[in-house]
Amino acid sequence: MIEGIIFDLDGVIVDTAKYHFQAWKRMAAELGVNFTEVENEQLKGVSRRGSIDKILNWGGISLSEEEIEKWMRIKNEWYLEYVAGMQPSEILPGADRIIAEAKSLGLKVSLGSASKNSRFILEKVNLIDQFDAIVDGTVVSASKPDPEVFLTGAKQLGLEPSKCLVFEDAVAGVQAANNGNMKVIGVGDSTILAEATLTFPNLENVRLKEDIIDKI
Ligand code: G1P
Ligand code: MG
Repeated sequence: MIEGIIFDLDGVIVDTAKYHFQAWKRMAAELGVNFTEVENEQLKGVSRRGSIDKILNWGGISLSEEEIEKWMRIKNEWYLEYVAGMQPSEILPGADRIIAEAKSLGLKVSLGSASKNSRFILEKVNLIDQFDAIVDGTVVSASKPDPEVFLTGAKQLGLEPSKCLVFEDAVAGVQAANNGNMKVIGVGDSTILAEATLTFPNLENVRLKEDIIDKI
């Protein structure tokens, strides 16, 4: 009954989650806000604006719109420096194989990412041509856990949400898929991603048909 797959980008297809972490941590340090992996977990899947709002809130800091815009620009410049040298070899193990498997099973494939940098990253790792639809932070406004990004992906694929399967590494992303009435594969820690339909620590040895579609 699954006819389409929707992939998150950062932390599922590529390990860019670590570069977002470094860039947000650097900004938080400049603003004097304590920022560790624990806080970072709450930024995964959240838009750039949603992320800075959370950091400022944790630090009890209030900035003007101009200052917020400035810091978002600086954070993104740092992020783009970190990812400038990315290569196809940095695709997370199994992600490209699962995309290929999906296509060979006749499934449609969409991206469903909060990031405004998604096309740039997909070009860097040579995957942009593999997607039937690309829905990202330049297209949608509501941040995960709102299901907008995945519902738009389903729509662009011409599929009912219930016929789409989402791959996510973020709590907010798993919740977004659930809120959109979609099955969701959590990629990462099963205690953190407890609300996912199935969870795998990574996709390296996961087979789309046997390990996922036949079991959900
Ligand atoms: C945004 C956020 C980042 C978040 C990421 C998820 O990316 O900045 O905190 O983890 O989406 O994909 P950006 O539009 O800045 O690339
Ligand atoms: Mg992610």
